[in-house]
Amino acid sequence: MFFEPSLLKGRAALVTGGGTGICRGIALGFAAHGCDVAILSRRAEHLEPTCRDIEARGVRALALVADVRDPSAVEARVAKAAAAFGRLDIVVNGAAGNFLCLAENLSPNGFGAVIDIDLKGTFHVSKAALPYLKERGGVILNISATLHYLGTPAQLHVSAAKAGIDALTRNLAAEWGRYGVRVNAVAPGPIAETEGVRRLLVGRARELATGRTPLGRLGTIDDVVRASLFLCSDAASFITGAILVVDGGLWLNSARILE
Ligand code: HXC
Repeated sequence: MFFEPSLLKGRAALVTGGGTGICRGIALGFAAHGCDVAILSRRAEHLEPTCRDIEARGVRALALVADVRDPSAVEARVAKAAAAFGRLDIVVNGAAGNFLCLAENLSPNGFGAVIDIDLKGTFHVSKAALPYLKERGGVILNISATLHYLGTPAQLHVSAAKAGIDALTRNLAAEWGRYGVRVNAVAPGPIAETEGVRRLLVGRARELATGRTPLGRLGTIDDVVRASLFLCSDAASFITGAILVVDGGLWLNSARILE
């Protein structure tokens, strides 16, 4: 629990990718603050344990199996979440794919898979949720990154997708403000204990990232959860189109050439 336990009381959220990693943390953080939570993933085995942990926090949980690349499946699952909870107030677009691959070795399908999951998936889910979010003035939170602020080797596909997500965040904020719908993003740097860091920060990279981070450590899932709770709560009621970097200052320091 990070804020008042009633911060999101009575609200309902859908978190894609909510079975594991950062988005599991967000789902549990929302639940601890009174929010019913549906989590969506391609893999059912990722969902059940997290659903039990959501329910243990005294709210309702719903497991939804779908691939965010399939717009009609997404539409049906979003409708199911809204029907189960009687409302939908918050959508977190966290479903993502990633692997290390230099651009010269990346196949069209490899590039397309990540664009389809991260960027097009965010669009499909946001569009499907709009009719429900409009009813009470809801919130969308996209999970971005900082990889695309500079050039990150072997991350062309993810950088392009996350840059697109930033554009989508700002455009939807501009278009959907008239419905009372806010659209923001968090941009985590390397977050310890996640699949992303385990797979991406190999060799000396973890040590280098820690050393270059002004705040002197990698992030934690809870660091991202706190930022997400803020942006999805009424405390951020006049904030839309924002991309909140949660990286301990790492990206600002990444191009350091002078000591
Ligand atoms: C090169 C690869 C590859 C690899 C897959 N591909 N893995 N190319 N190197 N390591 C290529 C395949 O060869 C294929 O192209 C195409 O990608 C699709 O692969 P499939 O396995 O058929 O696709 P699919 O089953 O849909 O899997 C999607 C995936 C998957 C993205 C490729 O690996 C995935 O979902 N990964 C796990 C998700 C994950 O790690 N989530 C955490 C994200 S962390 P061809 O041409 O052969 O058909 C994150 C944080 C970023 O995003 C910030 C960190 C600091």
